Amino acid sequence: MSQIAEPCILVIFGARGDLTRRKLVPSLFRLWKDGLLSNQFVVIGNGRKEAGDDLFRTEMKKALLEQTEETVPSEPVTDRKIDDFISRFYYVSGDSMDSLTYGQIRDRIVELSGEWQIPQNTLFYLATPPDLFAQIPKQLARVGLFNEEKGWKRLVLEKPFGSDLESAKALNRLLLELMKETQIYRIDHYLGKETVQNIMVMRFANGIFEPIWNRRYIDSVQITVAETLGAEGRGAYYDQAGALRDMVPNHLFQLVSLIGMEAPNSFRADDVRDEKVKVLKAIKPFTHESVLFHTVRGQYAEGEIEDETVPGYRTEPGVNAQSRTETFAALELEIDNWRWAGVPFYLRTGKRLRRRVTELAIQFKKAPFQLFRDIHCAEPSANQFTLEIQPEEKMALEFATKTPGPDVNLAPANFEFHYGKAFGKSKSTGYETLLYDCMNGDPTLFQRADQIEAAWSAVTPILDVWSALSPREFPNYRAGSFGPQAADELLKRSGRAWRKRDAQAASFPGSAAQLRSVRKSGAA
Ligand code: BG6
Repeated sequence: MSQIAEPCILVIFGARGDLTRRKLVPSLFRLWKDGLLSNQFVVIGNGRKEAGDDLFRTEMKKALLEQTEETVPSEPVTDRKIDDFISRFYYVSGDSMDSLTYGQIRDRIVELSGEWQIPQNTLFYLATPPDLFAQIPKQLARVGLFNEEKGWKRLVLEKPFGSDLESAKALNRLLLELMKETQIYRIDHYLGKETVQNIMVMRFANGIFEPIWNRRYIDSVQITVAETLGAEGRGAYYDQAGALRDMVPNHLFQLVSLIGMEAPNSFRADDVRDEKVKVLKAIKPFTHESVLFHTVRGQYAEGEIEDETVPGYRTEPGVNAQSRTETFAALELEIDNWRWAGVPFYLRTGKRLRRRVTELAIQFKKAPFQLFRDIHCAEPSANQFTLEIQPEEKMALEFATKTPGPDVNLAPANFEFHYGKAFGKSKSTGYETLLYDCMNGDPTLFQRADQIEAAWSAVTPILDVWSALSPREFPNYRAGSFGPQAADELLKRSGRAWRKRDAQAASFPGSAAQLRSVRKSGAA
């Protein structure tokens, strides 16, 4: 990032909601502070509740001062800096179901573009519940706000984009009647994360990974997105969605695509997106039987996380007391193409798990011949390459090494690369890059209609079977655990196991006497 973003007016629907406060405003502030936003930039917030510009500004300032570890800027921020930034915020109250609201928004855009001398480039951001994703664009189109005569007009939609294949297709159809595909930015904030973007760089800017990045050398791939949070005041939405819809066709499948894709012809948006969608289309379709065998769902009961007792899912606000919604999902995917045939991709995600971590683990095959088999130390593990997306941003390659001393004894060791240590950069929310890219019209990190549909098409059979067959044993995992036992069984039956971060063996032990006797007999 180095150039200043194009001048624009950002209109946020759902401007007093959680997403705006926790992610959008802190990310915009970082961009602004780093000199990446144009001086010709203002924000118009819209929400149902009555408020004026002043109250909105006060709330947004408060949001900035309450930053979390993730959004805290790299250097101290003065009140003045925040006030300068916040003076660009305006508010139009009005129900987004009411057509009058849109006339008021249009008038405010015209007025502010004159006042701040901004060409009428407008970015509409739907930070609203998904049931408004059709209504708001229809109304914007009705009052002519997608007309690009006096500046570009772009629409950003948050996830979830649809709730299954049919609804996603219907939403795509509707949007494409109102505007061009190039005006639509379907966001997945995982794509804004540095380490997620780095997957492509790591694979395709280096010569050493690609030759071994395939079924000949890789045994399996694991993707874990574990959260310690519960429903967090979003019970009403989450209880409708569940873990699968909430995380898999979007965040986890983005990771699958980046790990699985072929090298694109160029780094242009459509070349990259063409390759990503091919991976999703190659996911072997689930049948009803394979759903039963290759997927696991779970729901958390009360438990303890970091020594604190946390309530079970069914007692969270907004959640049905008999809820059958899953808060954990694990799947085994097969990718039917030449690169990946026979390499299982194991995915798991869940709420209220032992610790927060998003991690990709590439499990390589074992060395073809166990040279050290006679020295009675445990067999060295196969190499593992891990990419941790959060909370740490790092990559590690695990390998076996000899421990010092006269005996041949083996221990696991790691090559590690830490983003923070290498570049001294503070963490970002992921939204900085995405907002910046929308303002500059770069859709590489956004989802195209066909990607969304390919993702839904892969998970829809699971949704169908899960909704037809009520889960019998919910809740089936304790908060603070690693999820239901069935998720371990999913791997165990092929002799595999989830990567355990807690249980890194300090060595592959063998007794010194055994080692000496083996060496003397010439076996080692
Ligand atoms: C959101 C989901 O898209 O991603 C949430 O709706 C989830 O349920 C969140 O908590 C996870 O994002 P992150 O960046 O904290 O991993």
